[in-house]
Amino acid sequence: MCGIVGYIGRQDAAPVVLEGLTRLEHRGYDSAGVAVLGTRGIRVAKQAGRVRELTEVLPKRFAGTTGIGHTRWATHGPANDVNAHPHTDESGRVAVVHNGIIDNAAALRAELGDAGVTLVSDTDTEVLAHLVARSDADTLEGKVRDALAVVVGTYGLAVLHADFPDRIVAARNGSPLVVGVGDKEMYVASDLAAIVRHTTTVAMLDDGEMATVTSAGFTTVRHSDLASTGKTATQVDVDASAYDAGEHESYMRKEILEQPTTAQAVLRGRLDDRFGTAHLGGLDMDARDLRAVRRVKILGCGSAYYVGQMGAGLIEELARIPADAEAASEFRYRDPVIEPDTLYVAVSQSGETIDTLLAVQEVRRKGGRCVGLVNVVGSAIARECDGGIYLHAGPEVAVASTKALTNMFLGFALLALQLGRVRDLSIADGKRLVAGLERLPAQIEEVLATESELVEVAHVLAEAQSLFFIGRVRGFPVAREGAQKFKEISYRHAEAYQTSELKHGPLALIDPDVPTVALVPSDELTERNLGALHEIAARSGPLVVVTHADVDLGGIDARRVVVPRNEPELDPILLTIPLQLLAYHAAQHLGLDIDKPRNLAKSVTVE
Ligand code: F6R
Repeated sequence: MCGIVGYIGRQDAAPVVLEGLTRLEHRGYDSAGVAVLGTRGIRVAKQAGRVRELTEVLPKRFAGTTGIGHTRWATHGPANDVNAHPHTDESGRVAVVHNGIIDNAAALRAELGDAGVTLVSDTDTEVLAHLVARSDADTLEGKVRDALAVVVGTYGLAVLHADFPDRIVAARNGSPLVVGVGDKEMYVASDLAAIVRHTTTVAMLDDGEMATVTSAGFTTVRHSDLASTGKTATQVDVDASAYDAGEHESYMRKEILEQPTTAQAVLRGRLDDRFGTAHLGGLDMDARDLRAVRRVKILGCGSAYYVGQMGAGLIEELARIPADAEAASEFRYRDPVIEPDTLYVAVSQSGETIDTLLAVQEVRRKGGRCVGLVNVVGSAIARECDGGIYLHAGPEVAVASTKALTNMFLGFALLALQLGRVRDLSIADGKRLVAGLERLPAQIEEVLATESELVEVAHVLAEAQSLFFIGRVRGFPVAREGAQKFKEISYRHAEAYQTSELKHGPLALIDPDVPTVALVPSDELTERNLGALHEIAARSGPLVVVTHADVDLGGIDARRVVVPRNEPELDPILLTIPLQLLAYHAAQHLGLDIDKPRNLAKSVTVE
């Protein structure tokens, strides 16, 4: 989604800002721009297309040591040069970059129009530039405060003003912003990835906070009344190389291959062999609190929602607590009943997905307890929750999520184990699952080692215009995630269905041109699953079956993909890994830009 980078210091700002923007490229965007404040005021260059294209056409004399830049993912108005950020006021003395959405933009545009202002773009952001310019406050902070006082919506924004050349003012409400501290130079960014090569000393802004950033340092205030919030910077423990694809041809492939290691990271120090349980200190819930939970409701979006369904299954199986998952994007709009003895769990890689954040706020507003399963430390959702489980997957750059999802599943397994062991899950079952979890990283490695066998299968699937992914009970969320990954990066229509539901309708679509990827683990439903495969084969539907070695397909004509067996409850994650590779190789076969799928963004910070 949209990205912001700002720089103020001793160097020419434009190259630093543009380099930072390239670090945010994989998050998805359709236009880019930069504004630099030099001795002759503000200059802006912006256009639809890639940062590289903008860099190539940037005028040589684009000098100035203060600058802000943006990658835009169109919301208000199409992706074109005029709608690209930065936006300026009529005098060109104010420049603004903005992530998020101004909900009352239409009304503000009308008011500005009535006041004689000519708006040149279709965007909501442009109003901010005019509002800042029209404020008669005598500081830039005061002008930004005045502008934000009439704005309703979400924003992470950075502002330059030619009358205040020593500073960038940044403000946050619902859209992440981080301030980075260098040596007589400072950075502003919507994501650490943009600045991590320059500094790991950072301050994350909170909602309602504004930062004044000069080359010498920064100060923070509340943007409603400019009262100091006194934020200081801290050192974050990240390795800049984690943000590089290294020798890999894409981030997605790198992240798929990292899974044996990242899976170990989420389990490390959290398993207890002796009592067959897990310890999740970050949950901040003792045994009594855990026993008091009568229901679990998991909230997430997209793939995180599908893993939430896997997690709900695990919790219900192991802890015998009714559990379900719901799309966080729908949750608050149905005025949900919030129960005091329900444990709400928000699950998110980025920790910034606005739909999930708003769902957490809905729960907490009504007095519910919400814990988080979040990858990005210190992110908005992590901070909003009552406690939680960090996923420790490391930075995930590819738009299509892989390693973070695996760690979400493992996080849910740990939670299910802990909830189960304070209830009726036996120590024998607890130990069985602890042992299973300990085996998983090596088994993920085994699946990844079969990659070359999956390439040809992926090429066959890539040729189809439309395909099904089917599974039952534990396998159904796996099918949903498999279809999601496939459609996201290969742009093929992929539909997930419960295997049991196929004959109630979609079987009508099965023919030699519509392949089905079927999840058939060795479990109590194997025979039932095989029955459905016969029905598909009888209609000449091509089949790829992801299964265990002991499952006999009984002469059904299918390509077999075999994964190792673990404990049945933990099967979903091993069944998921080959589906990541199938999607990846299908997209590669089709020559698509895997890390930057069209229309999508890594972190969806607008509703
Ligand atoms: C799919 C994908 C998305 C995200 C969803 C939630 O590969 O990445 O469906 O899972 O947008 O994002 P987070 O987990 O950051 O809340």
